[in-house]
Amino acid sequence: MHTQADSPVDVGSATPELDRWRSLPALQQPAWPDPDELAAVTAELSAQPPLVFAGEADNLRERLAAASRGEAFLLQGGDCAESFAELTADNIRDKIKTILQMAVVLTYGASMPIIKMGRMAGQFAKPRSSDVETRDGVTLPAYRGDIINSFEFTAEARRPDPQRLLAAYRASASSLNLIRAFTQGGFADLRRVHEWNRGFLDNPAYAAYDAFASEIDRAIKFMQAAGADFEALRTVDFYSSHEGLLLDYERPLTRIDSRTGLPYDCSAHFLWIGERTRQLDGAHVEFFSQVRNPLGVKLGPTATGDDALRLMDRLNPEGEPGRLTFITRMGAGKVRDLLPPLVEAVTADGRPVTWVCDPMHGNGITSANGYKTRRFSDVIDEVRGFFEVHQGLGTVPGGLHVELTGDDVTEVLGGSEEIDDSALTRRYTTLVDPRLNHQQSLEMAFLVAEMLRER
Ligand code: PEP
Ligand code: CO
Repeated sequence: MHTQADSPVDVGSATPELDRWRSLPALQQPAWPDPDELAAVTAELSAQPPLVFAGEADNLRERLAAASRGEAFLLQGGDCAESFAELTADNIRDKIKTILQMAVVLTYGASMPIIKMGRMAGQFAKPRSSDVETRDGVTLPAYRGDIINSFEFTAEARRPDPQRLLAAYRASASSLNLIRAFTQGGFADLRRVHEWNRGFLDNPAYAAYDAFASEIDRAIKFMQAAGADFEALRTVDFYSSHEGLLLDYERPLTRIDSRTGLPYDCSAHFLWIGERTRQLDGAHVEFFSQVRNPLGVKLGPTATGDDALRLMDRLNPEGEPGRLTFITRMGAGKVRDLLPPLVEAVTADGRPVTWVCDPMHGNGITSANGYKTRRFSDVIDEVRGFFEVHQGLGTVPGGLHVELTGDDVTEVLGGSEEIDDSALTRRYTTLVDPRLNHQQSLEMAFLVAEMLRER
C-alpha cells in the first residue's frame, strides 16, 4: 500500500447525496434493537480516522484499469467471514504469506504484475438466506458476522450489538497495521516467497508442479545474474477489500478527500456489492454510486446482460477504466453458458469493466455427512470455464476472487492431498463458507498460472 501523507482526508461536510440510500430498501441489514445506541456509535465512528487514504484507492483504480486491458491480473483472497477471535498475528501473517506465494506463481504464469488484495481488515458482515436460525426448536436471529452479533447460539450472543461496529473498526485498524508492516518490511521479499514455494513442493503430492517451479527458479536466477534490483522487490502493494454490506458502518467511515472534495469510503480500498444486494433501485447501489473507490459487483446465475448494463449506468456512467469490476460466480456447470451473454452485452456497450472470476460461491454443496463444502475440482473447472469464455470472445480475464486461509483447515473437498468427506470432520472451523487451505490455495495458483500462460 502506498502511504500518502500528502493526501489528508477530511471528515465529511454537508453531503446529502451520501444519505439518499436511507430512503431506499436496504436488504440484509440487522434489526438493531436500540436506535439511540446505534446513533451514538455511528457518531463515534464518524469521528475516527480513516483506515485507508483516498490516494491509495485512486492508485488501485488505475491498477484495476490495467487489469481490464490485460496488463495486470487481480488476486483477491481471504476468509468468507473474518472473526475477531481469529485475528491473531499468526493468522494474518499466514494469510498474507499464502496470497504472496500464490502471486509469485501467477506473476510467472501471466507474465504480468499481480494486484494483491485481501478479503481482509473489514470482511465482517455476512448476508444470510434467512433472518433467523432454528436449532432444536429454538429460533434466534441468524449470525450476520462479528460486526453485528456473535456466532454462539444464545439469545444474548445473537442480539445485534452496535458496539460491534466499533470493535470491527478497531480490529480492521490493527489488521491493516500488520498488513502494512508485513508487506513493507521485507517479509514480502521475492526470493523469500520463492523459497516458501519450494518448501511446498517438497511434498510428493505436488510433484506435478515441479517443472513449473523449476522454471520460476531459473527465471529468478536469471534476474539475479542480469543484475535485477531485488531490493526494490522487497516490498509489495497490498490492498484491502470487503463486501460493502452494512451501510451503518460504511456511511460513517466515508470521508471527503480534501484534495478533490470527493467522497471516499475509507473503510477499505475496494468494496464490492454482493449478489443479494445488487438491486438497481436498492440502497447499496445508491450508496456506493456516490463514493469514488473502485467497486465490484457480484454477478450470479440470474444476472442478465441488461442487469450488467444498468449497473454500469448507476455505478460507472462515464465508463471510467478501473472503476467497476464484475465478479462472476456462476458455478462450474453454468459458467460456459451463462457468462457469454453478460460479456457480450458489456462488450457491445463499450464501457470498460474488469472481469473477475469467483469460483467459490456458485459451487456450494452439502457433503454426505452434512458439511457445507465445495469440490476443489469444481472450483478449478469454473476458473477454466471463465478463461475459455473470455478467450472465445476475445475479452480479458482480469482476476480471481477466492475464499482461502493460510491454515491447514479441511473445508473444501479434493486437491492433491485428497480431502474426503471424513476429513471434513478434522479441521472445519469456518463460521460461514468453506475455504481453500494453504496447500489447496497454492495448488490452485499453479493450475491457474498454467491457464494464464496458455492464453
Ligand atoms: C461472499 O463473497 O462471501 C458472498 C456472500 O458472495 P455472494 O454475494 O457472491 O453470494
Ligand atoms: Co462466502
